[in-house]
Amino acid sequence: MRKSNSGKLVIISVFSVATVLMAFYYFLTSNDSQINIQAPAHFGVPVDKGSVTVQGASLGRMLFNDPLLSKHQKISCASCHQQTASYADQGKRLSIGDRGLPTHRNAPALVNMIWKNYFFADGRANRLEETILNAINDTLELNSNIDLIVQRVAQHPIYSKKIKALFQTQDIKGEQVIDALAQYLRTLNSSDSKYDRMLLGEVLFTDMEKKGQLIFEGQCASCHIPPFFHSNVPTYDAQHRKILSPSLRNIHYSAPYMHDGRFDNLDSLLRYHPLEFSKNPEQKNLSKIEIESIHSFLKTLTDKQFLNPNSY
Ligand code: HEC
Ligand code: HEC
Repeated sequence: MRKSNSGKLVIISVFSVATVLMAFYYFLTSNDSQINIQAPAHFGVPVDKGSVTVQGASLGRMLFNDPLLSKHQKISCASCHQQTASYADQGKRLSIGDRGLPTHRNAPALVNMIWKNYFFADGRANRLEETILNAINDTLELNSNIDLIVQRVAQHPIYSKKIKALFQTQDIKGEQVIDALAQYLRTLNSSDSKYDRMLLGEVLFTDMEKKGQLIFEGQCASCHIPPFFHSNVPTYDAQHRKILSPSLRNIHYSAPYMHDGRFDNLDSLLRYHPLEFSKNPEQKNLSKIEIESIHSFLKTLTDKQFLNPNSY
C-alpha cells in the first residue's frame, strides 16, 4: 500500500515538473504581442497567413501616414488611402502623386485584403508586399525607392529604434520596412456591419433591405461574392481585359467608383453597371425601385468602427 502510494507521488511530481517546464518553454518561445485577427466564423480562414504583432502593425501604421516615404516628402500612403473613405481617396477620380501628376487609376478601398488572392484592378499582384513596392516605385505614386527610404528611416530617431527592436538587428533593411507596412495592411479588416450582425442573428433586415439582398443575390453576388463582396476570380471587360470585382463593403464611403473613377455616385453606377459585364442578352437595367432596394442592402455593408480614425 505505502509503496504504491509513493509510486503515485513520484508520477505526480514528475508530471508537475514537466508541466511547469512546458509552461516555461511556452513562455520563452511565445510572442505575447502577436495579434490574432478577429473575424466572425463566416469569414473563414485568411488566404494570407503572414503574422502580425502589435509593435509591427503600429510601426506600419506610422509609416503608412508618413510623407517620408515619398521622394519629395510631400505625400504618404494615407494621402490616397484615407480611413474615413474606407482607405480610398475621397471624392477623387484620380489621385495626385509625389510629382503633382494624376495616378493612372482610381485609388481603391483597402479592406479585408488578407482574404484576397489578387491585387490591383487587373490582378497583377498576389502578395501585399508587392503592392507596397509598387506604391513606392510608381513614379505617379510615391515616386521613391526602397534604398532611399531605408536611408531616411535609419537616420530617423524613432523609426530606427523601433525597427532595431522589432527585428532584433542593428542593420536596417528594406524588407523590414515593407514587412511592417504589410503587417498594418493585414489589420485593415471590416466585419462589423449590419449584414454581419444579421448573419450572427443579432439584428433583422428591414423589408427593403431583404428585397435588395434578394436582387443582389440574383444579379450581383456571382462577382461580388459574400461575405467579402469581392471576387478572387477576374471578369473580362468588353476589350477582353482582365478585371477584378472590387469589394462592396463600406461602398457608400469610397466614391467615385470603378478603376477609372468613372461614376461619381452609386445611383449612376447602378443605372449602367448591370449591363456592363453581363453575358446574358436578356439582362435588363434595374428599375428605380430595384435600385433603391439594392442601395439599402449595400448600406448594410457599412462598418462605422472601421471608418472611424479614433478606433485604431
Ligand atoms: C498617389 C496615390 C497613391 C499612393 C501615395 C499610394 N497608393 Fe495605393 N493605390 C493607388 C492606386 C491608384 C491604386 C490602384 C493601382 C492599380 O489598380 O493599378 C492603389 C492600389 C493599392 C493597393 C491594392 C489594393 C487591392 O485590393 O487591389 C494596395 C494594397 C495599396 N495601394 C497600398 C498602398 C500603400 C501601402 C501605400 C504606401 C506605401 C500606397 N498604396 C500609396 C494610389 C496610391
Ligand atoms: C460579371 C461580374 C459582375 C456582376 C454580375 C456585377 N458586378 Fe459590380 N463590378 C464588377 C467589376 C469587374 C467591377 C469593377 C469595374 C471597374 O473597375 O471598371 C465592379 C464594380 C462595382 C462597383 C464599384 C466598386 C468600387 O469600389 O469602385 C459597385 C458599387 C458594383 N460593382 C455593384 C454591383 C451591383 C450592385 C451589381 C448587381 C446589380 C453588380 N455590381 C454586378 C463585376 C460585376
